[in-house]
Amino acid sequence: MKRKVKVKVTKEIEDEIEQAIKQLGLSPKLEGAVLYTLKLPGKRLRPRFVMASARDFNVDEDIAIKVACATEMMHAGSLIHDDLPAIDNDDYRRGQPSNHVAFGEDIAIMAGDLLFSVADYMCTKSKSNDVIKAFTQTLIELVDGETRDIIMSKKGYKPSEAEILQMYRGKTGALFAFSFSFGPLMAGIDPSSYREAGYEFGTYFQIRDDILDVTATFEQIGKTPKKDLKENKATIVKIMGVTQAQKFAEDIRDGILSKVKKGFLYDEIEKMLLDKK
Ligand code: IPE
Ligand code: IPE
Ligand code: MG
Ligand code: MG
Ligand code: MG
Repeated sequence: MKRKVKVKVTKEIEDEIEQAIKQLGLSPKLEGAVLYTLKLPGKRLRPRFVMASARDFNVDEDIAIKVACATEMMHAGSLIHDDLPAIDNDDYRRGQPSNHVAFGEDIAIMAGDLLFSVADYMCTKSKSNDVIKAFTQTLIELVDGETRDIIMSKKGYKPSEAEILQMYRGKTGALFAFSFSFGPLMAGIDPSSYREAGYEFGTYFQIRDDILDVTATFEQIGKTPKKDLKENKATIVKIMGVTQAQKFAEDIRDGILSKVKKGFLYDEIEKMLLDKK
């Protein structure tokens, strides 16, 4: 019956997010824009990992839910900004018009800004300096990763494999590193192995996303297919092709689970990796 518990937790997180935003007393336009992307059907991967990591280390559930919400808020903010015309210029997200298409570029920028700040606020509910520090460091790495992506995707730039991997660890890996290591951080246990597993999971996940950009349909991914090629995005797929990239991703995948102790998080990661084979 494990599955039922997770579904319930996801619903609890979605309700908690909605309540947290609604109590801010925002202008209706901004509240609408923020809730729009948050409510679209994403996979809620990062909160699921936070909850699983929390269970493994006996973290109080109310605190875990707040921090799970924080990760989904930071993620949603990063997606809104990532889709902007100045960045990836993507008109679709989670199967629907992206935030700037629905609300305008100006409001979308504000919606992203707001989400980053509310995410930090939610994270303070952990009352753990280690957790708050790690979470704020996560946004620094994410923004730096997105910036490296922007720079490497300019015409004429020929990024190396190492540069692309560094960019993946930042833009995608950092938030998984935080989510995986939330339990150890709360328990005062060295989180480094969990963090590394998160960076590697993020790298694997990003390569899979880059492969799907080339191979999947709009119905499958809910965003514009073949967009990376069109926008000249720097990806591992671009430099080594789909087949090699797939092999490369599988090698990374095979090292992830050995870094995490058997338990809820282990099962959750394994389930994701099986889904993605
Ligand atoms: C999309 O992340 C951005 C990447 C890191 C590739 P997800 O694939 O987790 O997006 P949602 O939350 O399910 O929409
Ligand atoms: C990940 O990269 C974006 C973020 C970490 C915000 P992508 O640009 O490939 O993500 P998608 O494909 O737009 O979801
Ligand atoms: Mg991008
Ligand atoms: Mg994008
Ligand atoms: Mg992508």
